[in-house]
Amino acid sequence: MSKAILDKKDLLIAPSILAADLSQLGSEIASVSNADVLHVDIMDGHFVPNISFGPNAVRTSRKCFGGLIDAHLMISNPDELLENFIQAKPDILTFHIEATNHADRLISRIHEAGIFASVSVNPATSVSLLEDVLPEVDMVLIMSVNPGFGGQTFIPQTLNKIRKLRHLCGLYRVNPRIEVDGGIDTTTAKSVVEAGADVLVAGLAIFGQESRAEAIEGLHAAGRKGLTHLV
Ligand code: DX5
Ligand code: ZN
Repeated sequence: MSKAILDKKDLLIAPSILAADLSQLGSEIASVSNADVLHVDIMDGHFVPNISFGPNAVRTSRKCFGGLIDAHLMISNPDELLENFIQAKPDILTFHIEATNHADRLISRIHEAGIFASVSVNPATSVSLLEDVLPEVDMVLIMSVNPGFGGQTFIPQTLNKIRKLRHLCGLYRVNPRIEVDGGIDTTTAKSVVEAGADVLVAGLAIFGQESRAEAIEGLHAAGRKGLTHLV
């Protein structure tokens, strides 16, 4: 597992394959090979009003990408399907705090499988709900749109949530990665990083561009302008 990538003292960019051309997924993934993390959005039609990929998309992504694979589980009852996703061998498993009563158990099982554990909150969910699991997780994913679809507009209140989460991390003296997902482009990248984020998911802002390599570099450069907490 490329743990060094998550530990790297730098901003990480994570293209979301939800925005890729699925008729040529292999070459689409190859076009973002300069990214650190590949973000795979799993939607079940219950937790979110859309259906996307299952564990096989994680397996396919693993074959085509050299960096970390992050499986973002937007599914109800992640407890029931966790083993299926563990078997697909992502590097990071992200589940939603709203979808389970047993976050601590899920985190332990994910770690036992040798996978980074990440927990996500929807826009209307307070980050204070994460307080007691913060010391256990490798990453927190803050949704900056209501999950379910790509190409939505960034919700500005997200910036306060990121600051609040950074503050909580300071109180607990922990330093999980803070990832932001939804409506990230070269305009919003700087402000989320300034607020404390250090992993940026982007769908349309990368796969909607002709040169994906340049789009990734552009997001990285824009985000780095807000970077003070990693240097
Ligand atoms: C939304 C997904 C996102 C989505 C982001 O439910 O979790 O990962 O692909 O897409 P953009 O960057 O286009 O908002
Ligand atoms: Zn996502």
